[in-house]
Amino acid sequence: MATASPPPSGKMRAVQYDRYGGGAEGLTHVEVPIPAPKKGEVLIKMEAASINPIDWKIQSGMVRPFLPWRFPVIPACDLAGEVAAVGGGVSGFKLGDRVVSINFPSGGGFAEYAVAQASLTVALPPGVSAAEGACLPLAAVTALQALRAAGAGLGGGAEPKNVLVTAASGGVGHFAVQLARLGGHRVTATCGARNLGLVESLGADEALDYGTPEGAALRSPSGRRYDAVVHCAPAFPWSVFDRVLADDGGVVVDITPSPAAVATALLHRVSFSKKRLTPFMFSPNKEDTELLVDMVRQGKLKPVVDSSYPLSNAPEGWTKSIGGHATGKVIAKIGQEE
Ligand SMILES: NC(=O)c1ccc[n+]([C@@H]2O[C@H](COP(=O)([O-])OP(=O)(O)OC[C@H]3O[C@@H](n4cnc5c(N)ncnc54)[C@H](OP(=O)(O)O)[C@@H]3O)[C@@H](O)[C@H]2O)c1
Repeated sequence: MATASPPPSGKMRAVQYDRYGGGAEGLTHVEVPIPAPKKGEVLIKMEAASINPIDWKIQSGMVRPFLPWRFPVIPACDLAGEVAAVGGGVSGFKLGDRVVSINFPSGGGFAEYAVAQASLTVALPPGVSAAEGACLPLAAVTALQALRAAGAGLGGGAEPKNVLVTAASGGVGHFAVQLARLGGHRVTATCGARNLGLVESLGADEALDYGTPEGAALRSPSGRRYDAVVHCAPAFPWSVFDRVLADDGGVVVDITPSPAAVATALLHRVSFSKKRLTPFMFSPNKEDTELLVDMVRQGKLKPVVDSSYPLSNAPEGWTKSIGGHATGKVIAKIGQEE
């Protein structure tokens, strides 16, 4: 087992908020002490962090009843950069290793240094940039786990399914389309008109504009009924899914479950319908992140970056993500990558 290495001393630049609400205007530029990795943690000299909606939902106070927060908060959970120090008991990493990790839900990525559990940290191979790596631990892992939960994972000989991905141009959706296709499934996807070509290029064999009546009704142009839906768009009434799901066990895995969706899920447990809705929450996972990093290395999986912002301009990236119209991921580039 490795002994702890001393962290760099001194201060670092960071962007933080110190109360609920305020959006980008609630973010301030500060200088704070470089954190020291505790037992089992690594300290990462940051090169890239990606912004996920959960980061600004936490700031908005949306999850306050479940997860009361201690301020100030340096947000952004997805981390990529170089190992700058290791805490006690960490093996497998040395100073200078390029890594990607996740510190969920605490964050820390809007800073020059951030800590993460070594048990969730993955080596970044040559050829995979820090920005590409930072796209993966939350959004791509969610896509992979949601597809598995819907019975439409990467397969290995399983029956191909008719899969629908909603909000297929978003951070999670664009990975779900690619992974469903890599799993050998038939993929229908919804997105805005401007992204129909992109979503098809990622592997959707049918793309629906959510601004049209057919798209809003999730109706497949070829008349497919869906065995598996990975629902990444804002809430839809159950009646919309009910009309397009396969009768013999079509399932919606809802990554944005509303209270109504949770009620629907409970009702279905006691009904005779074989159709189901499953509220879903991802779980940070080292093996899944490793698998996805390797798929990027092999050129099988392509992270799409909507836009990148230097740390000095991270609030602009925050605003972009809050707007809900990113195509792929929004990235903060830090240090040499800025
Ligand atoms: N449960 C979990 O474990 C989990 C994990 C990750 C994320 N999430 C949640 O899942 C949601 C999606 O996350 P994300 O990172 O993919 O968000 P995102 O990147 O912000 O999604 C933005 C995309 O959604 C598209 N979109 C918006 N409304 C749509 C609609 N009605 N139909 C089709 N596309 C639509 C937008 O297209 P246009 O620009 O064309 O409008 C845009 O490309 C968020 O609410 C997030 O909090 C949950």
